Amino acid sequence: MTKKANTRYSILKHLSDRWSPRAFNDKMPERETLLKLLEAARWAPSSFNEQPWRFVIGIKGEGESYENLFEGLNEFNQKWAKTAPVAVFICAKKTFSHNGKDNKHFMYDCGAAMSNLCVQATEEGLYVHQMAGILPDVAREKLNVPDGFEPITAAMVGYIGDPDQLNDDMKESEMAERKRKDLSEIAFFGKWGESFD
Ligand SMILES: Cc1cc2nc3c(=O)[nH]c(=O)nc-3n(C[C@H](O)[C@H](O)[C@H](O)COP(=O)(O)O)c2cc1C
Repeated sequence: MTKKANTRYSILKHLSDRWSPRAFNDKMPERETLLKLLEAARWAPSSFNEQPWRFVIGIKGEGESYENLFEGLNEFNQKWAKTAPVAVFICAKKTFSHNGKDNKHFMYDCGAAMSNLCVQATEEGLYVHQMAGILPDVAREKLNVPDGFEPITAAMVGYIGDPDQLNDDMKESEMAERKRKDLSEIAFFGKWGESFD
């Protein structure tokens, strides 16, 4: 199943092919492939090159690694996430290492790293579904996240699976067309509200 973006202008194939499924299959990605995804994330730009991102990986069947991460997801996400063989928690350092001050852009930087990771995943034939629906306190405890770092999101990673595994509501959204705001709503020329498109 694919849900290629219906773009108005031609964009990189990996960007239009990426989407966030909730149904994955059992096939386990190679460890080297997962390392490539993390390597892609590692090379994202960040404010002051702080690289505030940290990743905790859980793999089904490898000790308690997967279960530890899974418990940090909220109830809604636990319903579907179990089909994916790999889980990742993204944690962020909230202060700058060079002066100890608050890094107001730590979230922005982590988003850039995850964007890199998603593009690399698409190259590898893998899919990523990111989640804000986490239980940060549970994740902090289960994953031993130290003070100064914050669990901010999680993501499930794997190969695409059969939507029939999902409940009716989730199956409907799995099959639905992907939508975006029009360019005229998000890109302005000179000042707010003047469309660039
Ligand atoms: C930061 C972030 C948080 C998200 N949180 C959740 C979530 O908790 N549960 C979920 O099912 N999807 C979540 N999503 C997936 C979005 O709903 C999805 O990316 C969006 O609907 C666009 O669909 P697409 O990724 O298939 O293009 C999240 C995505 C991002 C980037």
